[in-house]
Amino acid sequence: MNLTAALSKIKDAGRVAVLTGAGISAESGVPTFRGTGGYWKNYKAEELATPEAFQANPELVWEWYSMRREICGKAEPNAGHKVIAELESYCKEFLLITQNVDGLHRRAGSKRMKEIHGCIDEARCTFCNQVFSLPPLDRTPKLPTCPDCGSLARPHIVWFGESYFPGMLEDCHEFTKFADLIFIVGTSGMISAPMNIALAAIRRGAYSIEINPERSTITPNVSLYIQESAGKALTEIWKHLN
Ligand code: OAD
Ligand code: ZN
Repeated sequence: MNLTAALSKIKDAGRVAVLTGAGISAESGVPTFRGTGGYWKNYKAEELATPEAFQANPELVWEWYSMRREICGKAEPNAGHKVIAELESYCKEFLLITQNVDGLHRRAGSKRMKEIHGCIDEARCTFCNQVFSLPPLDRTPKLPTCPDCGSLARPHIVWFGESYFPGMLEDCHEFTKFADLIFIVGTSGMISAPMNIALAAIRRGAYSIEINPERSTITPNVSLYIQESAGKALTEIWKHLN
């Protein structure tokens, strides 16, 4: 791993953004969406994480989320999450933008962050839109309901074909458009909105470092592509920064 160029850029950067995807949690044992572990009962995420799937079969969609909640709850943040949490105090200005709903960044200590796709431990009422934390898994009913009005609740997650939460992408762009450096870690880049945040920063001149053992849609655009697992690459970078 030739990190010389990257290290001086990181040391000089005033404003640093990090965009993460499912790959950062792979080493914690949380399956990615588009890899080999990406299927459940022969369904792909694209067939379950939609308003149409929920309308047709809310039990099935909740069952899938409960299975994933169980995996996320048992998983522990890994070295990659921890380095990103440390970077937050190392950098003058910092924002983590994650596509992950697993909560592992938060549990690793990240605070300046946007969970742009929501959080697996939260639900939202389909009638009054109240957002609430789900009880522990063993006390979560098969079909969770709203604590206020008793209507059916759904996962508080941005599904395929849905808009992002109001202001979310704007807040991210506001920060990243003047970023000096952006890390793009563990994402295949198949979802355009988060990729556009990174691309806009790159076009404005941000130095960009991608970490992913496999090439992604953004690889041709980055300043430095580190073909490595997130845990290993971030640990190496952090070691050299200190
Ligand atoms: P994907 O499953 O599409 O991509 C995971 C990426 O992680 C791939 O590019 C892998 O090569 C990479 N990867 C695997 N192991 C890694 C490791 N140890 N270190 C670094 N990278 C590794 O997941 P996302 O790009 O996050 O949406 O998918 C984006 C969105 O699509 C998700 O947020 C989800 C999904 O549908 C929602 O849940 C709303
Ligand atoms: Zn309600």
